[in-house]
Amino acid sequence: MSQSVHVHAFRELLDGGGIVDDPERIATYTTDQRQLFTGSTLAVLRPTTTKQVVDIVRLAAHRGIEIVPQGGNTSYCGGATPDASGRQIIVSLERMDRIREIDPVSMSISVDAGVILKNAQDAAAAAGLLLPLSLGAESSCRIGGNIGTNAGGLSVVRYGMTRDLLLGIEAVLADGTVVSDMRKLRKNNTGYDVKQCFVGSEGTLGIVTGAVLRLAPLPVRRATAWLKLASGVPLAELLGLVRRESADLLTTFEFMAARSITLATEAMIDPSSLRAGPAGAVLVELASSSRHLDLDELMEAVLAEVIESGWIEDALLAQSGSQRAGMWRLRETIPEGEKRRNGSVKHDISVPLSSIQRFLDLAGAQVRSYDANLELSVYGHVGDGNLHYNVLVPPDVDRLEFTKGIESSLSLQLYDTAAALGGTFSAEHGVGRFKKHLLKRYGDVGRIAAMCRIKTAFDPADIMNAGAVVRPLGEKSAR
Ligand code: FAD
Ligand code: MLT
Ligand code: ZN
Repeated sequence: MSQSVHVHAFRELLDGGGIVDDPERIATYTTDQRQLFTGSTLAVLRPTTTKQVVDIVRLAAHRGIEIVPQGGNTSYCGGATPDASGRQIIVSLERMDRIREIDPVSMSISVDAGVILKNAQDAAAAAGLLLPLSLGAESSCRIGGNIGTNAGGLSVVRYGMTRDLLLGIEAVLADGTVVSDMRKLRKNNTGYDVKQCFVGSEGTLGIVTGAVLRLAPLPVRRATAWLKLASGVPLAELLGLVRRESADLLTTFEFMAARSITLATEAMIDPSSLRAGPAGAVLVELASSSRHLDLDELMEAVLAEVIESGWIEDALLAQSGSQRAGMWRLRETIPEGEKRRNGSVKHDISVPLSSIQRFLDLAGAQVRSYDANLELSVYGHVGDGNLHYNVLVPPDVDRLEFTKGIESSLSLQLYDTAAALGGTFSAEHGVGRFKKHLLKRYGDVGRIAAMCRIKTAFDPADIMNAGAVVRPLGEKSAR
């Protein structure tokens, strides 16, 4: 059957705006967010209802057409990008963007999977509650994508990752069966926790169409500080002290090396005057939903203790909303700063907190002996053991060539080091299409076998995001 016959059949299932097949518009869906790879697609389908998703999946399964689920297309590992065959269709959830319900008493929000994270946060805040998932891509990433990647980000240290927030799910399986479990229950021990299978599944087990997420009381007080780190600071001990002395009111502990800070500063229209200490800086935030706690006073006491330890050179406590926003803007501009300079080769590693200093020491030595001229941009959500250990692409070289070179040599040394310390090559960005070889190299054999069996049980014909993460057992697995 010809491609146009397939496209015609899908068009019949959707309304006028439900399909994108004009090559110019398609390019934004077929290119990954870091512009490392452009795939090809039959068409982009944009359903508005779960029923339409079911119809699409049934037709695709019947005709053996593979589906790539897509949310905001902010994946860092090519998870939402189709392969080059031109035989896959993209199912974009971008038109399924309804907030279904907010229940302030149960403290939950029910949404279509295509809701943009920021819109869900705003809806929760309007009801006096906090959706405690926050990341740099929040204005474009969507809840289905957050579930697909088990997104973490800027407040994981207090609230956990997407997995910890998920109460209920609606998803369409590879044969069109709908898992309809949009419950707000915190307790439901009735067999396998099926919704959790979709978390971090990167579109390989089905299409998430709805979700119920846990909310938290909305903070009304925040204390935010910028710590200039002294050399030799033990980051994990510093974090431990701040957590303990703030009675675990810590929501953010973001580390930034000096080079990352200058990159961000250079990319800002209104450059920040914040500076790093010799070992970089940390953005610390405490938050409380109670008006009865004086968080500034608490933060000042914590900082006094930290200064006494000699671990920081100086600390600045934000005195206004705009100072606080300035600190956050600087942190959040780092990825853009890297991009403007010619990009970076990203290493999204995590190690146990107790090994974070050891990783920094060993990895630093590896980079220097590989090429003493390489520059690093190191930052991350250290509160949860996560570091973005990024090698900057020099301004005058071909970005893709350079990335390929580093990824086939130095990157493996860095991942070996993380693995030897009990860490991982992908803390929060997923596996997608770009990191499959790393899963093979570093994944436990038994765990990968279990993943393949789960994939086989959910999607034996390999319809869902074929080519990403793992293949089902059987004939296609050799591809
Ligand atoms: P997409 O990129 O569209 O898809 C991601 C994966 O999920 C794909 O495999 C896709 O097939 C699958 N998928 C998408 N929608 C569905 C669905 N409805 N059903 C089933 N599968 C689906 N990540 C973090 O964890 N923490 C961070 O701090 C962070 N910061 C970032 C900052 C920037 C500037 C950028 C660009 C990215 C950042 N990311 C971060 C990575 C990325 O934003 C997250 O992984 C995000 O959760 C992806 O959401 P998305 O809607 O863009 O998903
Ligand atoms: C972030 O934390 O800002 C992103 O996950 C990092 C990145 O761009 O690598
Ligand atoms: Zn991150």
